[in-house]
Amino acid sequence: MTDAERIILSTHAYKLDNVCKTFIQASESIDVLKNVDLTIDSGDSIAILGASGSGKSTLLHILGALDNVTSGKVFFGDVDLTIASPEQKAALRREHISFIFQFHHLLPEFTTIENVAMPVMLSGMDKKQAAGLAENALEQVGLKDRIHHNVTTLSGGESQRAAIARAVMTKPRVLLADEPTGNLDQNKGQEIGSLLLKLNQELDMTLVVVTHNLELASSMNLNYELKAGKLNAL
Ligand SMILES: Nc1ncnc2c1ncn2[C@@H]1O[C@H](COP(=O)(O)OP(=O)(O)OP(=O)(O)O)[C@@H](O)[C@H]1O
Ligand SMILES: [Mg+2]
Repeated sequence: MTDAERIILSTHAYKLDNVCKTFIQASESIDVLKNVDLTIDSGDSIAILGASGSGKSTLLHILGALDNVTSGKVFFGDVDLTIASPEQKAALRREHISFIFQFHHLLPEFTTIENVAMPVMLSGMDKKQAAGLAENALEQVGLKDRIHHNVTTLSGGESQRAAIARAVMTKPRVLLADEPTGNLDQNKGQEIGSLLLKLNQELDMTLVVVTHNLELASSMNLNYELKAGKLNAL
C-alpha cells in the first residue's frame, strides 16, 4: 500500500499514542508534552487552546511532520511518522498537509494570485494550471475581485484569507493553523472561523486550529486544552 492510500483509506486523520516531547536546552529539560493520546477523525475540526508556552505550536509541528516526538507514536492516517524517513515526511507535507501561520507571510512585491500560485509553481506545476487553481481557491475565500491587486493593498483579514487560499489550493487532507487570527481584531475570529469551517466541509479537509481566540475555537467541532503537558477535552 502507498502512503497516499494509508492516508486516504484511514478513518482517522491522526492517532497519537502516549506522546511525550522534551526539549533540552542548556542542560535543562522541559517536558512540554506528557503522555498525550489523541485521535482526530478524518474530516473533523478541532481547536487546541492553552496558555502561552503550553506546547500548542510544538504539538502542531509534530502533527505537521516538522518535529519529532521524544517517545510515543504518531500516525498520520495509517502512516507511522515516528519511523518515516525525512524524504517520506517531506512528500507528505508537500502533498497532504498545509499550514497557516499567525503572520500570513505574503510576498509584498506580488499580486494576490501570484502569491497563491507561487508555491505550486516552485514545485513544478505549469503556470496556467497553477493560476487556475489559485483563482478557484481565491474565489472560495471570497477574494475573486482582489486577485490582481498588489497584496500590500489588502486588509489584514483579506491577507489572511489569501494565505488560506494558498494553503488549500492543492486540496490537502489536513490544514494545520497556528493562531490564524493572531494579528487580527477579535471580531475577525468568527469570520476566519466560518471560512475555515466552510473549507473543512467543502474540501473534506481535517482542520486543526491552535488559538487563543475563544470565538474561533467555538466554531470548531471539538475543543482541547493543553495544560501542564496534558491534553484535556473541553
Ligand atoms: N526548539 C526548542 N528548544 C527548546 N525549548 C523549546 C523549543 N521550542 C519550544 N520550546 C519551549 O517549549 C515550550 C512550548 O513552546 P510552544 O511554542 O509549543 O508554546 P505555545 O503553546 O505555542 O505558546 P504561544 O501561545 O506563546 O505560541 C515553551 O516553554 C518553549 O520555550
Ligand atoms: Mg505557539
